[in-house]
Amino acid sequence: MIPPHIVDDIMQTARIEEVIGEFVQLKRAGSNLKGLSPFTDEKTASFVVSPAKQIFKCFSTGKGGTVVSFLMEKEHYSYPEALRWLADKYGITIPADRPATQEELAAISERESLHVINEFAQEHFKSNLHNTDEGKRIALSYFTERGYRPEIIEKFQLGYSINKPKDFTDVALKKGYKLEYMEKVGLSKTKDDRSFDFFRGRVMFPIHSISGRVLGFGGRTLFTDKKIAKYFNSPESIIYNKSEILYGLHFSKGEIIKYDNCFLCEGYTDVISMYQAGIQNVVSSSGTSLTKEQIRLVKRYTNNITILYDGDAPGIKASFRGIDLILQEGMNVKVVLFPEGEDPDSYSKAVSTSDLERYITDSTQDFISFKASILLEEGENDPIKKASLIKEIVHSVSLIPDQITRNVYMQSISERFDINEQILSSELIKLRNETQSKVRQEPIQRNKSFDSQVPIEDIPKATEVQGKHTEHDLMRIMILYGPNAVVIEELNETGEKIKIETSVAELICHELSIDDLVFADPVFNKIHQIIATSLSENTFLKSSYFKRLDDQQIVQFVSDIEMSQYEISHNWITKHKIFTNTEMDKINVAVIGSIYAFKLNKVEERIRGIQKSLVANELELPDEELMEMLAEQVSLEQVKIMISQKLGRIIIR
Ligand code: CTP
Ligand code: MN
Repeated sequence: MIPPHIVDDIMQTARIEEVIGEFVQLKRAGSNLKGLSPFTDEKTASFVVSPAKQIFKCFSTGKGGTVVSFLMEKEHYSYPEALRWLADKYGITIPADRPATQEELAAISERESLHVINEFAQEHFKSNLHNTDEGKRIALSYFTERGYRPEIIEKFQLGYSINKPKDFTDVALKKGYKLEYMEKVGLSKTKDDRSFDFFRGRVMFPIHSISGRVLGFGGRTLFTDKKIAKYFNSPESIIYNKSEILYGLHFSKGEIIKYDNCFLCEGYTDVISMYQAGIQNVVSSSGTSLTKEQIRLVKRYTNNITILYDGDAPGIKASFRGIDLILQEGMNVKVVLFPEGEDPDSYSKAVSTSDLERYITDSTQDFISFKASILLEEGENDPIKKASLIKEIVHSVSLIPDQITRNVYMQSISERFDINEQILSSELIKLRNETQSKVRQEPIQRNKSFDSQVPIEDIPKATEVQGKHTEHDLMRIMILYGPNAVVIEELNETGEKIKIETSVAELICHELSIDDLVFADPVFNKIHQIIATSLSENTFLKSSYFKRLDDQQIVQFVSDIEMSQYEISHNWITKHKIFTNTEMDKINVAVIGSIYAFKLNKVEERIRGIQKSLVANELELPDEELMEMLAEQVSLEQVKIMISQKLGRIIIR
């Protein structure tokens, strides 16, 4: 267990905007930061981070909470994993407590175990490279020959796997790592009860998550034997989903934001060489064909992708596919082709950085010219070829979701190929109809806000909504202003008015307990219990306390009310030049108002209950019971009138 004072320390040190900034491109929006939600594939930013409150809110999924909740949602960490990740990032030491028990060890999640194995393997491969004869002689010299400088080898955590059957497996087993996990991340294989290494005699490229954890490896053979696959790659596992990872993104995301462009190449070595040459906004899809998930990863940081592919036939084919996918995601795509036989890796070493930069600038083509230049190689004079080329280009344009952007491209095609725009647009409309009907057949999976996910029949009746609303409001006040002082007037035994000073939380808990009332919502109920218990120990809990709990439903609720509080006051101040400490000033009024609204609602609920059973059982009920129920209804109605009057007075005052 992480001691509470360390949890406090972590929560106080961690900056939510920094942590989320590692995953999402955030832009200033007033005093908040805004970006595209990492939980959906939205096109307009509805993901808000408040540095002042240290909370986030995703308005398209309803998710929200603290930096810890974010890591739990985004990286699927458990609560302690998220805290440890933050402690690690901010250099906070978590004291080692007593040795973990067997159960606790088993409870450390499998995901974490797989990460730990990979990180151990990465260190092991690195040590092989620098500290063993074989590593230095074969692998380090290979890197040096390829022109990799020591600091780049260090930065990308490159390594080497010894060319023996089970060098890694033996060392890892001796260190106590479980074979089961080593197999799950694909580092070891077992056949006929004998285990051996998957990577042998290969230079190792660790593949990192956006936040820098090792998810898997690519291993390049150093043998020239054509029968051996050049690369071995870690298999997919619960921590490694190939279609959702881009090699290098962990290192390049800052530069991608800075240059508002991302260079996309094919291989590990391309990324490393470009990076070394000083062009650092670069990633690679590394052997998998580009996926829309990978494109969406880039989209968090920029809207612009420049494809850098080899000029050979497979490279061009891959780039055509890439272009369409990128356009489909509503992003801008450009292409640079390298001279025959060169790739970004080789070319960046053949020329100086400034020549490389100049080459890239001069050879960058928009996708129309690029497709045209490739498809028209056999001459623009063949009308049939020209027609099919134009169709091919219009097809790409038809994939762009935004109409204005489509029109801009259509104009440019019309001018370039001297074709009537009308004809082009009828072709475009035809293609769009085709793609649209294809899109429609796919099941639509969108994360909407919680409310809109509720099936029609579950939408609460107006009165239930009101009930929820009054509960919510009372809870909101209890959390935001719980420790604040309030003064209330009461009649003492002799009928004199006396002033009593208490706290908001105490007043609410007192008022609820005298009437035996509880919250219907289970989360509110839990919070109510926590507050009541702490009051009995003379402790006043601030809202920040609730944001540190392990219970993410509570964290989310508290963050949500803080966020809406913040938005309201921000809007009011800027739009209406009104200062919103009104609620603070009139805290007495607000508290008592919402207590009575809560009570009124409970009374109404009870009256409705009675009415319902009266209607349902009218004929069968014995007279006395009927009378009793009617009497209760009458007295409840009186209570209701009383409360309404008080409520009215308070609200008017
Ligand atoms: N790749 C792979 N398996 C292979 C060949 C290639 O997974 N058998 C992937 C690797 O991620 C590689 C990328 O495809 O980085 C590009 O392949 P290639 O251009 O052949 O390799 P390079 O990275 O350029 O390697 P090198 O320059 O060392 O030949
Ligand atoms: Mn290469």
